[in-house]
This record gives sequence, C-alpha cells and structure tokens, in this order.
Amino acid sequence: MGKTKGWSDWLSWGRKWASQPRVSDSIDHWRSGVIGHRKAHSAWGLWQDWRKDESALLQSSEEIEVLDFGADCPKEGRMLKVQVGHLAQRASSDLRKGYWLSASAAERSRADLGQKRVKILELGTCLGSGAAQLLQGCDGQAQYFGLEGSPALAGKTEARLKRQFQHSEISLRVGPFSETLGPVLDEVGPFDLVFLDGHHSGRALLSQWKSIHPHLAKEALVVVDDIRWSQDMFAAWNALAKDGGVETLDVFRMGLLKTTTSEIKGTHSGLVRPPRHLWS
Ligand SMILES: C[S@@+](CC[C@H](N)C(=O)[O-])C[C@H]1O[C@@H](n2cnc3c(N)ncnc32)[C@H](O)[C@@H]1O
Repeated sequence: MGKTKGWSDWLSWGRKWASQPRVSDSIDHWRSGVIGHRKAHSAWGLWQDWRKDESALLQSSEEIEVLDFGADCPKEGRMLKVQVGHLAQRASSDLRKGYWLSASAAERSRADLGQKRVKILELGTCLGSGAAQLLQGCDGQAQYFGLEGSPALAGKTEARLKRQFQHSEISLRVGPFSETLGPVLDEVGPFDLVFLDGHHSGRALLSQWKSIHPHLAKEALVVVDDIRWSQDMFAAWNALAKDGGVETLDVFRMGLLKTTTSEIKGTHSGLVRPPRHLWS
C-alpha cells in the first residue's frame, strides 16, 4: 500500500505538491471563498474554546474502551483500551486541518442554499475535534450527522458538540459504516458538506464516494482527509479529482472536492493548490 513514513517521504510529497499549479488569489470562484475564509479563520480569538477542549483532551490520562473497525479488524470490531490523550494526539484533526474544515463550512454556509442550515455528514468522529471545527465554520448553525464505530467515542463527540453548539442539530449514528452510511444517506441526504475521515484506504475512499455522490446537494463540498497517507490513498484521490463533475483544491494533507454542474472530465485544471502563505 506504500504508507507515507518519515521526513523523506513527506519531503518527496512536498516537492511534487510544489510543482502543481497554484490557484489565482483573485478568482471569482468557490475556491476563493474557501481561501478567503481560511485566511480569516486563522484569527487567534476564534479558536479559544476549541483550544481549551483540545488541550484538556491531549492532557487526559483517562482510559476508555474503543471499538475499532479499522483495516485488519473482524467484522464485529475489536475492543481496545486506549488513553484519551494518545487518541487526541494520533487521530484527531489539528488546528491546521481545522482552518480548512471551518473555512469549507463557512463557504457552504454563506452560499445560497435555499435552506436555513448547512447539512453536514462526517465519517469517523473520534473525539469530535474535526466536527467542532466544521460547526464553528457555520457559526454553530448547522445540521450535523456524525458516523462513528465506537460507542465511547460517539458519546464523547455528542457531549462535546451539544455543550458547545446549542443552536445546531447534532446527531450521532453508532456502528460500522457498512451499517450506518446507507440508512443515513437515504433518510437524511442530500448533504452540503461531507468530511471523509474514517477509513484511510484507497478502496474504501472510492467506495464511500460511490455511495455518497448521489446524495450530495447540487453544489456540495467533500473534504477528504489524509490524501497523502499512502500511495493508494493518493491514487484514489487523483481518480476522484479527474472524474467528471468535480473541481478540487489540494491543500496537501487534505483534498477538497466540489461538485459542479459542468463536466471537466480528464483535465488537470482541478488539481490546484492554494496561494502562497497558506500551508496546510
Ligand atoms: C482519524 S479518526 C477521525 C478523526 C476526526 N474526524 C477528527 O477530525 O478529529 C477515525 C475515526 O473513524 C472511526 N472508524 C474507522 N473505521 C470505521 C468504520 N469502518 N466504521 C465506523 N467507524 C470507523 C474510528 O473509530 C475513529 O474514531
């Protein structure tokens, strides 16, 4: 699968990324919306609550039992004992990813949706760090649906989000994606914003995209986490990016896909990175 390991792998990814074209700063486009919000959202004050929660999680030595549905686990999952602090460090979205998540949410919530709130779907909530960033981008006004395999993690995410975002609708579905995704798409879709952060394999990404695509709003944003996690994830990202009906923004650690009404199949024009000074 060629998993990305160590500095030399990351440097090599960085060099290739640097050769991709940059998006123009002044384009009148959804990308300029996301980039504008990304700049604005780096403001220190915005993140005080998030930082407070995150630093408590990072310092926590609480041990919880997590039901894992990762790559080599049996169908019914595997129970693991983990320390909350370790999980926050290893698996949760950090601030740099958070800027892009909140900027993506802000772009969707400022668009004319013909409805009151942005409808968000997240695959893999862990401790709710990414979800809090998404909801912050919508100024706490959203309908959020999180799918999580582990009951303990879903419980922690739900408690965190309901405490911090009292004006949003928060709903968690617990179980493996193979059981929760289909029903949520049928019952709740179409979604305006989707964050795919559950299962980092190219095959899973392509299959999730296939299921989710018909349940996206006409103009929806899909954020794919860890597109350079492995060669296989990057190959899947590229396959999606070059497919018809999407435009992309490659922010290095994550990729943003926007569904469009125009067909741009087979062009590289979508594989652009942000302007200077905006590192992922
Ligand atoms: C990388 S963490 C998510 C981090 C979170 N999105 C954030 O931004 O902080 C991945 C999560 O996906 C969950 N997960 C992975 N594979 C799953 C599956 N097949 N079904 C359900 N949950 C799964 C894990 O339990 C874990 O909590």
